[in-house]
Amino acid sequence: MQNFIKRVREYYKKHYDLNDEAHRIDHADSVCEEALFIIDTLKLNINKRMVVVAAYTHDIFCSVNRKTHNVLASKYVLNEKDDEILNEFSKGQRLSMAEAVLQHRSSYKGERSSILSRIIATADMGRVNIKYIILRSYKYHSSNGKSDIEIVDEIYEHLQDKFSSNGYRKYDDFYMSVYGDIVNDFKKEVDEITKEDIIKVIEE
Ligand SMILES: [Fe+2]
Ligand SMILES: [Fe+2]
Repeated sequence: MQNFIKRVREYYKKHYDLNDEAHRIDHADSVCEEALFIIDTLKLNINKRMVVVAAYTHDIFCSVNRKTHNVLASKYVLNEKDDEILNEFSKGQRLSMAEAVLQHRSSYKGERSSILSRIIATADMGRVNIKYIILRSYKYHSSNGKSDIEIVDEIYEHLQDKFSSNGYRKYDDFYMSVYGDIVNDFKKEVDEITKEDIIKVIEE
């Protein structure tokens, strides 16, 4: 399996090199790793090679068009004639990987049609992590020219609104079955965090 992952990674890396910083090859690596973790955790009986290929193709076209990148990649997975990796799979397998790629975004409204789709979407969402959220919103706000005090206030409000025990962010059953413990610890952390804690994370 490791050799297969390496080959797939090398094959699609050129697309990720063109993407924005948040969607480079290390993002695909982490989606692949997380997807395999989900399979092991839930002891799912699924073709791992399909999971690996879906993970490494899901964001290949972010640089082409951010809004439709899932549609473009999905069409590619289904139809591309000259792809050495995809040509090793049957039409049915390609259809199933294409569906997972199409449905990977968190904004996807419909019901995800297969277990492969749920795995990829969940792996793409990743594990909730308070430091990561703080640093990402800090980066975002500071590029908009706000003062550090304003930023810390906003991050604090945002954390409470969205991620606390009463926050509006919901996690579906599938996500909870994999990351339930992590989510519960995370909510508690958010409930208890102070503005001083946020400053510490930023200054670290
Ligand atoms: Fe994406
Ligand atoms: Fe992604």
